[in-house]
Amino acid sequence: MTEQKPVTQTAATPAVPTLPDAQTVTGVTHYTDRLFSFRCTRPASLRFRSGEFVMIGLMGDPDPKTGKVKPLLRAYSIASPSWDEELEFYSIKVPDGPLTSRLQHISVGDEIILRPKPVGTLVHDALIPGKRIWFFATGTGFAPFASLLREPQTYADYDEVIITHTCREAGELTYGREIIESLKDDELLNEVIGEGFWKKIKYYPTTTREPSAKMGRITDLMRSGEAFTDLGVEPLCSQNDRAMICGNLAFNLELKEMLEDYGLAEGANSKPAQYVVEKAFLD
Ligand code: A2P
Repeated sequence: MTEQKPVTQTAATPAVPTLPDAQTVTGVTHYTDRLFSFRCTRPASLRFRSGEFVMIGLMGDPDPKTGKVKPLLRAYSIASPSWDEELEFYSIKVPDGPLTSRLQHISVGDEIILRPKPVGTLVHDALIPGKRIWFFATGTGFAPFASLLREPQTYADYDEVIITHTCREAGELTYGREIIESLKDDELLNEVIGEGFWKKIKYYPTTTREPSAKMGRITDLMRSGEAFTDLGVEPLCSQNDRAMICGNLAFNLELKEMLEDYGLAEGANSKPAQYVVEKAFLD
């Protein structure tokens, strides 16, 4: 597949909500035939920690027997940081997926349902202090890191921020790459987080099914040591390194085992430790 130019739609005066927990779409960008992102209004009462997810969706089709309609909701990581006045989400498009087959057609001014109850383990509170933080993502698993990469605490807590993103095709890296590139020139972030904060970031994008600058699964590239050589960093150690994992199930399990082998222990909100893991939304 060739990389598509992102097509962005913006503007809009938010309409008066008509659905329960309705929010209004303020922008949609399509990256590939499998991926898109969108922004929407943020409920005034919604407080969340960067990296958390919420349930979002649309009204389902009427029940053939009763005619009743129920909301069709799925867990989505909030891709925008906690201080942003709008919310951003990054989604896959599954042709026969109950929600995404319809969600992919939303446009500016449309309403989505958003349950304002954020939860999740990919939060700074679930990690104990360290020197480096690794964000490991595949596919749409980049979403919580899109939030955390724009979160001041990430740079206050760590000297180095390493983000790896493995996707099938090069076009699937666009969303993440554009966010990382934009950090450099973002005046607000440089002011809020600290001038030159982005110099702490090391970005390692790889593809597995289409040629790109770096090919291979991050797991294999770490096992062979190639990832560490390319990045010019030492392999992980339990004393200095903290990590967050978000991707497909097989990736999460494989990387979790690797991190345990490096000596890192899994943390949680109730018991902070050295790494945390969460499954990316796929439907
Ligand atoms: P691959 O193409 O070799 O399967 P998906 O779109 O299916 O969720 O996959 C996203 C990316 O995650 C793909 O590049 C895929 O590589 C990679 N991937 C899948 N399973 C693993 C795993 N166990 N370890 C590392 N990467 C994985």
